Amino acid sequence: MANENLNTTASTESQSTSTEDPTSEPLVEQSISVDSERSHTTANADTVIESRNLDVYYGETQALQGIDLAIPENQVTAMIGPSGCGKSTFLRCINRMNDLIDICRVEGELTFNGKNVYDDDVDPIALRRRIGMVFQHPNPFPKSIYDNVAYGLSVQNMDVDVDAVVEESLKKAALWDEVKDQLDKSALNLSGGQQQRLCIARAIAVDPEVILMDEPASALDPIATSKIEDLIEELAEEYTVVIVTHNMQQAARISDTTAVFLTGGELVEFDDTNKIFENPDSQRVEDYITGKFG
Ligand SMILES: Nc1ncnc2c1ncn2[C@@H]1O[C@H](COP(=O)(O)OP(=O)(O)OP(=O)(O)O)[C@@H](O)[C@H]1O
Ligand SMILES: [Mg+2]
Repeated sequence: MANENLNTTASTESQSTSTEDPTSEPLVEQSISVDSERSHTTANADTVIESRNLDVYYGETQALQGIDLAIPENQVTAMIGPSGCGKSTFLRCINRMNDLIDICRVEGELTFNGKNVYDDDVDPIALRRRIGMVFQHPNPFPKSIYDNVAYGLSVQNMDVDVDAVVEESLKKAALWDEVKDQLDKSALNLSGGQQQRLCIARAIAVDPEVILMDEPASALDPIATSKIEDLIEELAEEYTVVIVTHNMQQAARISDTTAVFLTGGELVEFDDTNKIFENPDSQRVEDYITGKFG
């Protein structure tokens, strides 16, 4: 599965990112607690997505500047930074959702398993099956729960046992027990948190490798948020998860690696999450994390 073709000659590329310094003391007085149960080391992880000197423009306005970033496989990578710094723009570059914005122009390279997703021979529909996306506001279709999860299977012409895939996807999204007796009911009757887990089930159903999430819990109450956070940690055992969040505690709790973007579309620091939250190299990152600006 890992190297299924994108209608291309995809190749795999392995690369490691930096290791944490276990001796470093937290610099930040009011440091945000990091879940020490998680390993947070990217030293041995393969790179699944990598951007090199990525610039993105909307018309004349540059939204991202020379982004170099290597996202490790089967981990949670968080993207944080103030509003307008380009987090969603970067996320949408990964599965070419920016193609849908007429004035958006991407320069530089963004590879998935070593293949530049902007090469002419890449089919964006095939790419989006392998790199799924979940948005801030749950967006189920006005269809039954079952049809929502099964939707991508027919769009992608996947020859699978649909009943089995629907059940398995709802189980992986921690929703099965709540909906198994009402699969034919409208998805719009579910609560916001259930709808978001349904959208995650819909993304999982087509068997992606990567799941992109743009503030997936920001419209939810604390209990629904906590369910989504638990789910993300479970998903990372099987998938690579990239999550944009404004909630720094959330980034610290659930991610292994964190990218900090700052105003102007600049990636200022990218490292293990505990390094970013306890001992960042950049003063600007420390100021942002401690709430001095942003
Ligand atoms: N469709 C668009 N057309 C024109 N400009 C856009 C478009 N989408 C984003 N931009 C601009 O690109 C820059 C980055 O926006 P983006 O949405 O990526 O930021 P963000 O970090 O996700 O912000 P937020 O935290 O508020 O969601 C902003 O200056 C924004 O105005
Ligand atoms: Mg955004």
